Amino acid sequence: MKIDYLKNEVKKVLSAKRYEHSIRVLETALNLANIYGADPLKVGIAAILHDYAKEMNNLQIRDICEHFFKDETKDYMSVSEILHSFVGVYYAKEKFKIEDPDILNAIKYHTTGRKDMSLIEKIVYISDAIEPKREYPHVEKIRELALVNLDDAIFFEANRKIEYLIKSDSIIHLNSVDMRNHLLMTTAK
Ligand SMILES: [Fe+2]
Ligand SMILES: [Fe+2]
Repeated sequence: MKIDYLKNEVKKVLSAKRYEHSIRVLETALNLANIYGADPLKVGIAAILHDYAKEMNNLQIRDICEHFFKDETKDYMSVSEILHSFVGVYYAKEKFKIEDPDILNAIKYHTTGRKDMSLIEKIVYISDAIEPKREYPHVEKIRELALVNLDDAIFFEANRKIEYLIKSDSIIHLNSVDMRNHLLMTTAK
């Protein structure tokens, strides 16, 4: 599968702003794939497709989640920020015939993360958080950490994200808490 073909498909369903975000995530992810020795094609496919479903209408998003990802999404049905990741997997499979579990999981967990992510999942997760136009407190530190140690970067980012979600009265997906706790116990501080 050609990345250029997928870029074009993504362009058809996203606003210019989000398309450009997807391109920056792709470039960030390919740089990290190079640093950490991950398969650039798999990383590239997951990165360009990660927000494919982000601008789909909410009814359609909920319908797909209820039919195909019921167990994983039933407690988060009002949170489109979480649901679009699952719908992205649906389209990756149905429209683009992608079956590689590493690519599908990188799309599925790009918002929440999860415990024991694969290298490709980690790269897509953190690239989404640090692409060059992202601006939030401490993003520079996360960018620096990502070039040296992905787990340290993800741990630091997850702590900041969880703090932000609490302060803004937002729901926190259990996968994010699980990932953060696991990294706390496994990465050297
Ligand atoms: Fe997303
Ligand atoms: Fe994104």
